[in-house]
Amino acid sequence: MIGIGSDHGGFELKEAVKKHLEERGLEYKDFGTYSGASCDYPVYGRAVAKAVASGECDKGILICGTGIGISITANKVKGIRAALCSDCFSAQATREHNDANILAMGARVLGEGLALKIVDTFLDTPFSGDERHMRRISMIEE
Ligand code: RB5
Repeated sequence: MIGIGSDHGGFELKEAVKKHLEERGLEYKDFGTYSGASCDYPVYGRAVAKAVASGECDKGILICGTGIGISITANKVKGIRAALCSDCFSAQATREHNDANILAMGARVLGEGLALKIVDTFLDTPFSGDERHMRRISMIEE
């Protein structure tokens, strides 16, 4: 299960990502926002982050205008490694090296085509499991 959330700045891209996940046959839970009306990104960033941290969702996707506010919020939740990505290299590397469990994107930064490629890269790349990466990840939470 993928948790997905955005503020108003990310609402349209969130809808496009949902359609893409449906086309891929992937299950998701939409934590809002549910319209383009102005709202506060921490509400949605925290909701998705808590769902991932609790195990309700395996991974999360968060979108705001820049991706910055919503990723900062998500990273305040224990156990969350939210990666703000604007390119596929970073999306692949953060899965392989950081075992990132939330992808954050900026809807005012990315075109839809690139955003969907980043989503696919993030979801399809496994964690490497290398000892050095596991050690570094464990050091994050110390
Ligand atoms: C909303 O205008 C905007 O500030 C928000 O979407 C995000 O970019 C914050 O980091």
